[in-house]
Amino acid sequence: MADKRTSAYNPVTGEVLTDLARILGPSGVSSDPEKRTAYSLDDTLPRFEGEYLAEAICFPESTEQVSRVMKYANDNRIPVTPRGAGTGLSGGAVPFRGGIALATERMNNILEIDMANRTLTTEPGVVTAEITKFAKGANLLYAGDPCSGDISFIGGNVAENAGGNKVIKYGATGAHVLGLEAVLPDGSVVTLGGKRRKDVTGYDLIRLIVGSEGTLAVVTKIILNLLPLPKCVTDMLVPMPTIESATNLVSAITTMGGVIPTSVEFMDRKSIQNVEEYASMSIPFSDAGAQLIIQLDGMDRKSLWNDVERVGDICAAEGALEVFVAEDRNARDRVWRIRRLVAEEEWTGSMPLLSKEDIVIPVGGISDFFKLLPEISQRHRAIYNAYGHIGDGNIHLTLFPEAAESGDDLAASAESLRRELYEAVRELGGTLSGEHGVGLKKKYTGIFLSKAHIALIKRVKAAFDPNNILNPGKIVE
Ligand code: LAC
Ligand code: ZN
Repeated sequence: MADKRTSAYNPVTGEVLTDLARILGPSGVSSDPEKRTAYSLDDTLPRFEGEYLAEAICFPESTEQVSRVMKYANDNRIPVTPRGAGTGLSGGAVPFRGGIALATERMNNILEIDMANRTLTTEPGVVTAEITKFAKGANLLYAGDPCSGDISFIGGNVAENAGGNKVIKYGATGAHVLGLEAVLPDGSVVTLGGKRRKDVTGYDLIRLIVGSEGTLAVVTKIILNLLPLPKCVTDMLVPMPTIESATNLVSAITTMGGVIPTSVEFMDRKSIQNVEEYASMSIPFSDAGAQLIIQLDGMDRKSLWNDVERVGDICAAEGALEVFVAEDRNARDRVWRIRRLVAEEEWTGSMPLLSKEDIVIPVGGISDFFKLLPEISQRHRAIYNAYGHIGDGNIHLTLFPEAAESGDDLAASAESLRRELYEAVRELGGTLSGEHGVGLKKKYTGIFLSKAHIALIKRVKAAFDPNNILNPGKIVE
């Protein structure tokens, strides 16, 4: 393994481990080789297996401990990479320059639900689904819903501004964040925002820290906005003859239909057929150009049903081959299982992979993108399947070599394919990442961001972190 540490940083020596144990207690720090490997990975495909390695893992239990570790690391020039559950898909939690992996898993308490203010205050190491469940117990909705919600931590969701299936109606994680407590790289602690719903007292630093991929601050407390819990939910599975008709439908529902669905998810023919094979199941209309999952929610059955009928009529007018309506829990679970299996299949697949993309394009440009895609992929002898959050214009593309032989330089093929793909995305007004983050795809940010924009990002980073201690090597560096 190449030594990715640079002379700008100091190594984690035995003395450093002793100092860290003094801050965190003996069980709060580890340099066990197996743990170092496990805490140096996330779920990015292709995997970074063995490429980067943390020298120690810290397990703080309080803001004070995070603050002391950061001050120590900053004073001693040791890189720190914060991590949640490690479910990220861009290398955000991967310790690019070694040093300390700062695991938030012991900061795992929901601190408060405040009914009068409709807020929930939590530590960062709580599994997102626990927050959803807790809020539901109080008849309230936490509307952040990353696809990894059953395993990801809320702190990671905040760091990556995780999106998921409900962004079209409710927004990504950041839309629900009212306040943050955060530790800056020098160990100082700031409290930003709070339970108030308006705040223009100074810059909106919450919006800056949300989605900053752990490069600016370590989030130690989060105040979340909760909403009234919708009483009724309906899902529709809608096979469409072509991708174009499926994308046209998205705009038609929100304009002519006058309704913003909770979700509009998309799976292309190849994704559906992959699931059929992977799960040995048969999906109706599996040769359709694309299938959509449209979810609607509401407070009362009658008005929700009116919306369902109106959306169903629009689907038919746009050429839907069928509209399956799932109302009860079991039928709805069956619909979403297909969507979950599309992502799951990719982790178990044995095909060599070129790249996995998270591009986002204004919805009006998606048809054009799918017209360009076959040509681009053919030129690079690649095949692909596409799925994702079409309601947000966010497409996950998984690209494979048409025929891989051992000895093929997949990284070089992926590189030229990506560059052409990204140029097309940019021309359509799109960008590199909708929800997974830039992380270690940093060499491509120059395709999308101007020089002045990148210079500004670097100045912001330097203002927060002059010694470049916190998650170095990410986003633009
Ligand atoms: C999904 C993950 C890959 O949408 O973001 O399934
Ligand atoms: Zn996604």
